[in-house]
Amino acid sequence: MILQHKEVLNQGAGSDMKHLLSMKDLDTDKIASLLEEAERISNGQVPELSEKFTAAYLFYEPSTRTKMSFEMAAHRLGVSLLNFVPEHSSTTKGESLYDTVKTLEAIGTDLVVIRHSEDQYYKDLADRISIPLINAGDGKGEHPTQSLLDLLTIHQEFGKFNKLNIVICGDILHSRVARSNAYALSMLGANVYLSAPDIWQDQSLPYEYISMDEAVEISDVLMLLRVQHERHGSQMNWTIEEYHQLYGLTMEREQRMKHHSIIMHPAPVNRGVEIADELVECDRSRIFKQISNGVLMRMAILYRLLEKGAI
Ligand code: CP
Repeated sequence: MILQHKEVLNQGAGSDMKHLLSMKDLDTDKIASLLEEAERISNGQVPELSEKFTAAYLFYEPSTRTKMSFEMAAHRLGVSLLNFVPEHSSTTKGESLYDTVKTLEAIGTDLVVIRHSEDQYYKDLADRISIPLINAGDGKGEHPTQSLLDLLTIHQEFGKFNKLNIVICGDILHSRVARSNAYALSMLGANVYLSAPDIWQDQSLPYEYISMDEAVEISDVLMLLRVQHERHGSQMNWTIEEYHQLYGLTMEREQRMKHHSIIMHPAPVNRGVEIADELVECDRSRIFKQISNGVLMRMAILYRLLEKGAI
């Protein structure tokens, strides 16, 4: 394995992790172990929990895939879920995230999954709770469980990460998925490139930017991102058709991809914006495979944290 960004990636490496907060906390062994656990589950070897556990999912931002696949994962493992809806909770009376989680802990919840709009919302929380916390997306920060299911999808396809050309394309600046995947894939030895309009580039990320035309030609994995209209706070500089032609995966660009290359996207997808409608379900698309893999990977993560108390 080639560790290209050791200085930022190995925090926590080697030690047991009680929480899953950032891909920066995972080393190659932990990632490999989670991929193996998810593969075993995929092959019908569903691990049994030794006791009855209860989890609470706190989604302060909307979600379909992450929340539903965590719910499915809990059902398949026999984990009971508490129903937490922020709008119907004491959050509306000003209760802090910390007090909400401490309350759930006191009630007897064994694990929490949280999605929140604030970057690193977990910073003053994780060390003050005794139950595992899984980050289901923090603002523009990270989305580690999405990254792990993406790694599973890539590994199923290629059986390796080393030297794969992976281009992450689109709204990089606002994407927590881009950040988690770029960190993880470069640690695993992939050649990571980014492609984005100037205004959505994040120059703090140490990866080369290339054009969309170069991206389709060199990529083994073309990882598209959703244009996050809700985070821009202003209108796009382009019409949808202009954006699609300049920066999207058009039908014409897809024709120039390598024979074996695959298309990925964390979804939800803006059909006709970052990807042509017809390509969402084309032969090289793994978009719905990623979603199915989300259940497997989230089962693996829930099992590890609940049964073993660590990843
Ligand atoms: N990929 C992803 O996080 O989708 P949701 O926002 O629907 O959970």
